[in-house]
Amino acid sequence: MKINIAIDGPSAAGKSTIAKLLAKKLGYVHLDTGAMYRCTALKAKKEGIALDDEAGVCAMLEKTDITLTPEGEVFLDGENVSDAIRTDEISLAASAVSKMKKVREDLVARQQKMAEDKGFIMDGRDIGTVVLKDAEVKIFMTASAEARAMRRYLQNKEKGLPLSNVETIAEEIRQRDYEDTHRANSPLRKADDAVELDTSELTIDEVVAAMMRIVEPAIAGEKQG
Ligand code: DC
Repeated sequence: MKINIAIDGPSAAGKSTIAKLLAKKLGYVHLDTGAMYRCTALKAKKEGIALDDEAGVCAMLEKTDITLTPEGEVFLDGENVSDAIRTDEISLAASAVSKMKKVREDLVARQQKMAEDKGFIMDGRDIGTVVLKDAEVKIFMTASAEARAMRRYLQNKEKGLPLSNVETIAEEIRQRDYEDTHRANSPLRKADDAVELDTSELTIDEVVAAMMRIVEPAIAGEKQG
């Protein structure tokens, strides 16, 4: 029997990168729930629905298909939007729609259905606290704002994107942390039964190894049980 693994934490903590690597190692499927909020935002923008019109966004969502493939691609009503949802504009818009209670209810229901069969690593902000409350393993991944800013800076440099200085990026990250942890609906918080993993001083390989040490006993226990 497979288990479900919930990974939560603030933005830019490396959740998706690590979840992807871990999924590959374990033969599990990674589901990036942030991509679903991003798809909602992208379609609302395309259809000219205001980002404070909760009823409008919800009505739109009822007629929207979002598919996350096991290979990590994202399809919105059949169109591959894997890159289109990653712009700064859509990050901001996704943050706005993710505050809406009804939008969260719709997407959470979809996420719960997707993970019904086990064998999933789901990453987001509310996975351990709301979406998969009964996940066998819950990990809350953190890193200092400075470490996250440095990683983002290096990523942007590698992609040839325009560079802000590291302190400016750190300030934006602190602002987003504040918004994520203070919003009314499903604020970001560590589930009581989640293991906290601070990755500030760790390389990607070290984080994956630390995750494996947390996950393997749970998988072995499931096989025996
Ligand atoms: O992880 P991300 O940056 O792709 O997430 C995009 C936005 O969606 C971000 O503002 C946080 C929000 N989000 C959320 O509220 N709940 C989730 N489970 C995943 C993402």
